[in-house]
Amino acid sequence: MGLPVAIPNLETSRLILRPFELSDAADVQRLAGDYAIAEMTAHIPHPYPEGAAAEWISTHRKDFDTCSGVALAITLKETGELLGAIGLMDIQKEHQAEVGYWIGKPFCGNGYCTEAARAVIDFAFTTLGLIRVHAHHMSKNPASGRVLLKAGMMHEGSRRKHMFRWGKLEDIEMYGILKTEFLSV
Ligand SMILES: CC(C)(COP(=O)(O)OP(=O)(O)OC[C@H]1O[C@@H](n2cnc3c(N)ncnc32)[C@H](O)[C@@H]1OP(=O)(O)O)[C@@H](O)C(=O)NCCC(=O)NCCS
Repeated sequence: MGLPVAIPNLETSRLILRPFELSDAADVQRLAGDYAIAEMTAHIPHPYPEGAAAEWISTHRKDFDTCSGVALAITLKETGELLGAIGLMDIQKEHQAEVGYWIGKPFCGNGYCTEAARAVIDFAFTTLGLIRVHAHHMSKNPASGRVLLKAGMMHEGSRRKHMFRWGKLEDIEMYGILKTEFLSV
């Protein structure tokens, strides 16, 4: 199994995960431009440069076509509102990928990220045929750890001073789930 021909739409009880469109750029700019989001991620810049959202969205098709990643907009089924982003990165065929995400501050604490993470993990195993999905977060970001545990992942360990971000070395926590574990619950 490999990537499907088009970036998928995934549906959960409250959400639609769909490909980003250039028309999402202003919402991405506004939500990802919040320091609280950028602070805990590995790559989102702050201040978020004008035009960076459109530039980021325009990379998605190529990443998908080259099988290196899938990025999906997390949207509310009822209203279509953009809540955040989730994706699989560093996809290694028939093996593994890393999941990463953010949820806009006004929408945090509603279980949306957990719901989206479960759908993306399911997609990784049942559509892409991967056997492992992994993730990591900075140790100072326990909310992300809760998301990963609630999505069924196991805490696999820590790495001290592993990530250089905002001029500082950060400890990280690593998580993973195997296809056999996911399908057995
Ligand atoms: C982490 C993040 C994705 C969570 O999104 P969300 O939609 O609020 O997540 P959920 O509602 O599904 O779950 C959040 C959980 O974290 C818990 N939580 C929130 N703040 C917490 C804190 N300071 N300490 C411990 N747990 C916390 C919530 O209580 C909830 O757990 P519960 O259901 O057991 O009560 C969101 O806050 C975010 O985008 N943060 C910035 C970017 C980021 O951290 N990305 C991940 C980088 S690895």
